[in-house]
Amino acid sequence: MQKTINSTATLNNGVEIPYLGLGTWQARGKNCEHAVAFALSHGYSLIDTAQAYGNERQVGKGWKASGLSRDDIFITTKIRNSNQGYESSKRTFQKSLDALQTDYIDLLLIHWPDTRHFDQTVETWQALVELQEEGLCRSIGVSNFTIPLIKKLLGEINVVPAVNQVELHTFLFQRDLLAYCRDQNMQIEAYSPLARARYLDNDTLQRIAKKVDKTTAQVMLAWCINHDLVVIPKSTNEDRIKENADIFF
Ligand code: A2P
Repeated sequence: MQKTINSTATLNNGVEIPYLGLGTWQARGKNCEHAVAFALSHGYSLIDTAQAYGNERQVGKGWKASGLSRDDIFITTKIRNSNQGYESSKRTFQKSLDALQTDYIDLLLIHWPDTRHFDQTVETWQALVELQEEGLCRSIGVSNFTIPLIKKLLGEINVVPAVNQVELHTFLFQRDLLAYCRDQNMQIEAYSPLARARYLDNDTLQRIAKKVDKTTAQVMLAWCINHDLVVIPKSTNEDRIKENADIFF
């Protein structure tokens, strides 16, 4: 069935996640605030931020400026590496809640595996599991995890992440990871789905874009949607935020 901007994927705990979200990596200050408010007023409901982006406060302000109620939006944030560990994850999660002006997060992720101190990552996962049990986040997951690292985590704590957020796009089709995550019932969320705008002049993309009367960016995003991936293109530009939402074809 053709998806629409309101379509959602169902996570392994029943939570519905919108297929389209706004990425905010490198979005700063008023630009970030405005982009979030603009996106939420133009059909987006998922906003993706992270402790490491340093913009949770601006995301919170942008949401408030949009006038949407908390139930109408889906907020993702991530525990940064320097905050990994049981106590530190829980403490800084509270700071994220304050910055975002909310009392719960829809999706909380471990931003990166700490491959040198994996015990810290395991502790962080334990903290996330408890935060979810306490009702402070609706779903929990990981980011930038490879297959061996997911297996390693599950060997320590057998709670399957609802999401693995990784870089995935037409020029980086991580088929094995996608197949593994599907098998485990983990939703892949594609960050940098536009490959940071590096290949938008690619010949093949241009040919397809012409055929379907869309831009090459829209073709890249539609490719993700049509592979059942959640996509979070980043933009702080009004026209491009709108363009990136017209991808359900
Ligand atoms: P800007 O914020 O000025 O729009 P990705 O999501 O793959 O990381 O890509 C983000 C980059 O792509 C940003 O530099 C963003 O710049 C740019 N970008 C976002 N949407 C589009 C678009 N529709 N066309 C061209 N560039 C875009």
